[in-house]
Amino acid sequence: MIATVTLNTSIDKAYQLSCPLETGSVMRVATCIDNAGGKGLNAARAVATCGEKIVATGFVGGNNGRLLCELLDADGIEHDFVHAVSETRCCVNVLEPDGRSTEFLEPGRPVSPEEVAAMREKVADIAARADVVTFNGSAPAGAGDDIYRELVAIVREAGKPAILDTSGALLVNSLDARPTMVKPNTDEICAILGRKPESIDEIVAAAREVHESRGIEKVVVSLGGDGSVMACDEGVFRGRAPKIEVVNPVGSGDTMVGAFAVAMARGMAVEEQLAYAMSCASANCLSASTGHFDMAVAEELRSGTTVERVA
Ligand SMILES: Nc1ncnc2c1ncn2[C@@H]1O[C@H](COP(=O)(O)OP(=O)(O)OP(=O)(O)O)[C@@H](O)[C@H]1O
Ligand SMILES: [Mg+2]
Repeated sequence: MIATVTLNTSIDKAYQLSCPLETGSVMRVATCIDNAGGKGLNAARAVATCGEKIVATGFVGGNNGRLLCELLDADGIEHDFVHAVSETRCCVNVLEPDGRSTEFLEPGRPVSPEEVAAMREKVADIAARADVVTFNGSAPAGAGDDIYRELVAIVREAGKPAILDTSGALLVNSLDARPTMVKPNTDEICAILGRKPESIDEIVAAAREVHESRGIEKVVVSLGGDGSVMACDEGVFRGRAPKIEVVNPVGSGDTMVGAFAVAMARGMAVEEQLAYAMSCASANCLSASTGHFDMAVAEELRSGTTVERVA
């Protein structure tokens, strides 16, 4: 079983407009689609699409929290959340007829110290049953910048692999707890090293540095359409993604993390783990719905996804 931890869940609302967005006016929404959101829930859907058992945890609260659980039930995602007093946030994506999108992300209402303590217990309980645990995205106010360091440490003490995909201080502060894998994009690796790698050679050096100096088993830097670079004990690998007509790339990194967890749980070789996760992530780019993809499409894209050892 794979477990995903989403501290900052949301009801993601896609507002489709039938005319261009005009600020300062009344806009009528043509269609509204609600989705169970938060980056870990995209990863959870990827795990389910890969055909593995999934348990999604995190914080939910209020009526939005109940709706979120119903949406996950409809997606066939098993969940075991900590129920907080504050209402789960909403995030709104306004889509214009020409494909332009404008996102409004609520920050996430605060959680209490007691609720954070309940989350530590929940993660300990789920980690004991899980093959791999993933931590994705931001955290609500009240959780503190050390929350992932604490939760990753709980998973590692249980002897289970932990994958971390977050940004800023949450990412930097958690490295001492030695997550098994981190998946920064170039902005996120900049937060760790204090410099933004520009060329592939600099990205290779950066991934290697985080692997060696911080003792992180697997460092996977994702580069959007340019693929990825992975540093681990087996070497440094360059992954190349197939050329595709992208429909919606949002959530590709989350899909990559969910599929990586599956590949790790299935005991694939490291090169194969990367290629499998990348082909699922590219398939996500071909689906309009964030964090949804078709496994048959991922299998087709696998032959155009290459992984080569570069160091
Ligand atoms: N344009 C694209 N064409 C083909 N594959 C892509 C494209 N964009 C992303 N991918 C695949 O998805 C993987 C992850 O993408 P990306 O680096 O954009 O993640 P991210 O920035 O963490 O995204 P998010 O946080 O929105 O999930 C890439 O390594 C690649 O395999
Ligand atoms: Mg990401």
